[in-house]
Amino acid sequence: MNTLNPAIELRDYRMPPEQVPETIVETLSVAERNELKSRIKLLLKEKNAIIVAHYYTDPDLQELADETGGHVSDSLDMARFGHESSAQTLVVCGVRFMGETAKILNPEKRILMPDLNADCSLDIGCPIDDFSRFCGQYPDRTVVVYANTSAAVKARADWMVTSGSAVDVVNHLKAQGKKIIWAPDKYLGQYVQEQTGADMLIWQGSCVVHEEFKGIELELLRREHPQAKVLVHPESPVSVIKQADVVSSTTGIIKAARELDAKEFIVATDKGIFHKMQEAAPDKIFIEAPTAGISATCKSCAHCPWMAMNTLRKLEHVLTTGSNEVHVDPETSRKARISIQRLLDFTAGRKTALAGDA
Ligand code: 13P
Ligand code: SF4
Repeated sequence: MNTLNPAIELRDYRMPPEQVPETIVETLSVAERNELKSRIKLLLKEKNAIIVAHYYTDPDLQELADETGGHVSDSLDMARFGHESSAQTLVVCGVRFMGETAKILNPEKRILMPDLNADCSLDIGCPIDDFSRFCGQYPDRTVVVYANTSAAVKARADWMVTSGSAVDVVNHLKAQGKKIIWAPDKYLGQYVQEQTGADMLIWQGSCVVHEEFKGIELELLRREHPQAKVLVHPESPVSVIKQADVVSSTTGIIKAARELDAKEFIVATDKGIFHKMQEAAPDKIFIEAPTAGISATCKSCAHCPWMAMNTLRKLEHVLTTGSNEVHVDPETSRKARISIQRLLDFTAGRKTALAGDA
């Protein structure tokens, strides 16, 4: 039950639309683009650096990462890859919590980001002071936080989880009789609660991109495409999730596009993912889930404004100058690492168990 303690009335931590930055996509001529890409390739070699990019970033960045021994993936896999790579510098193309996680797991490495202002509405909507006070009221509960949080919030938590691991971790905790504090995404929290039946107190944050997907318009679109399968990221509202054929992390969505026996897919997540989906299933058709009705407008329009801050020009600049280094206070880092490492050990253990079963 999501019964909130009356002593701390959890407010709505959703970001007001007027505070959401505009999504600005970089425009470059073909010549500029090619020149930047060639120069970035040389710089990566020269600086012993690799790119670790999220699926929502610009296709040029994703291609560069793939072509130069870097990695494109979801947030869990980005953390794992950075940890295992021998490169001395990691350029994290994503949002700030991804850069911080890379730094926490690799304190000896240099972590750069094309733009340190690349934030996340979930991270912003979970300020450490409010969150600590809230947790302090429930000392008997296990604190589980989503990866999309600051290093300080992770340091206050017992476990960090990602969209691809949240249900398994909460099931594991529930089996041990644990009650949970969940933060910050309320939709993912509700989804996990429904899937596991766990006792969860849920923080009221949300993702400005996924929150814009509309259940009613999705119903109408499905009528126009009756054969299409619906793939949904669990940061989306309940009215959208309940129409999904597959609810999954970004990696799971790409896998479903490749493996499901369907020609058309309606996709409710950031449209940056279409690049890898199209690569994984070139003959299939991907349609954006609707973000607004006839009379409404969308703000992010299915593209994260902070992910869009990762541009070729900025990437070239940080590699040239070594600017935009990510730092995390050592004590915060030490504590946050415990909650992150729990997840990495848990997922590694599950892989081993699954391999054993097979
Ligand atoms: P994934 O972990 O599924 O890649 O999600 C990260 C994210 O920010 C989704 O909005
Ligand atoms: Fe955060 Fe949403 Fe952007 Fe993902 S898409 S980084 S959850 S604001």
